[in-house]
Amino acid sequence: MTAIRSVVLGCGSYLPRQILTNAELAARVDTSDEWIVQRTGIKQRHIAAEGEFTSHLAINAARAALADAGIDAQSIDLIVLATSTPDNTFPATAVAVQNALGIHHGAAFDLQAVCSGFIFGLASADNFLRSGAFKRALVIGAETFSRILDWNDRATCVLFGDGAGAIVLEAQPQPGESSDRGILTTHLRSDGRHQSKLYVDGGPSSTGTVGHLRMEGREVFKHAVGMITDVIVDAFQKTGTTADDIDWFVPHQANKRIIDASAHKLHIAPQKVVLTVDQHGNTSAASIPLALTVAVRDGRVKKGDLVLLEAMGGGFTWGSALLRW
Ligand code: ACO
Repeated sequence: MTAIRSVVLGCGSYLPRQILTNAELAARVDTSDEWIVQRTGIKQRHIAAEGEFTSHLAINAARAALADAGIDAQSIDLIVLATSTPDNTFPATAVAVQNALGIHHGAAFDLQAVCSGFIFGLASADNFLRSGAFKRALVIGAETFSRILDWNDRATCVLFGDGAGAIVLEAQPQPGESSDRGILTTHLRSDGRHQSKLYVDGGPSSTGTVGHLRMEGREVFKHAVGMITDVIVDAFQKTGTTADDIDWFVPHQANKRIIDASAHKLHIAPQKVVLTVDQHGNTSAASIPLALTVAVRDGRVKKGDLVLLEAMGGGFTWGSALLRW
């Protein structure tokens, strides 16, 4: 029995030029390179320049993904842009990207699921493609978290950075087996009881301001590993796969300790884990496509590899995606 699958045609990413090291941060707030590396694995993050918006990062990542896929932008009929830091309250940052790419057909919209945004975007695009509504999709994660950080709060400002990543998906008929290329399954969850553990204290309808990120770090940490492993077990059960079948684990790059603990609990071998958090910190919805692009470009992720993605973030929201490259 054949099945329509969302097959990856290419991916790309973009990081702003300016790098902020732990040592530079330690000159601003009471912290140290040693504390940040030991607790998070982060060594540096990239910061968008003045006048450089989320849309600009997204456009660069989208162009890189289209070039990698070797396709014309005009063949894209769906753009899903995951972000919690849009250029403006509206219109969607996705339409700025669409316009910059010269696309004036199809649909483009933003999706807000904080750090899980890329997984939620991937699942949404996958459903649209498999339903036949659209043929080729760009799924982008792009963030400028530097704009919503309280730079006097050492507990949060050391964790996040700016960046963007993108993937191109195409609806293709496949045999309908677990050896198919493309997205094999996605699992999404959210639980609003945890809203106050990670949030931004402003917004258009509440304060009329943008606000700053606030987080109970220990509480987030406490829930993260359990939530991540639950949706990954769902993915294994749905597809009849196990940790041994996975070629690459590309998790949301929030914190090396959360990633290591999740991989350990799931019995995923450390050499299969793609880690880039040291280079760009937590870039929220952008982190998975940023890490994926590194692993594709350096030759680790190859056609036919089984790739497991997961994320967890504000809300809480969390999710997994299992795909064959
Ligand atoms: N530098 C030095 N000391 C610091 C810093 C800092 N940057 N930040 C906090 N501290 C201090 C605290 O003030 C506290 O001092 P005290 O003991 O004198 O009161 C001490 O370090 C311990 O603070 P905790 O918050 O308990 O430290 P913890 O070991 O929990 O580490 C961290 C904090 C790294 C935030 C951890 O809780 C964590 O990783 N949480 C997960 C958060 C996360 O990844 N969020 C990302 C968004 S959600 C997602 O993407 C999954």
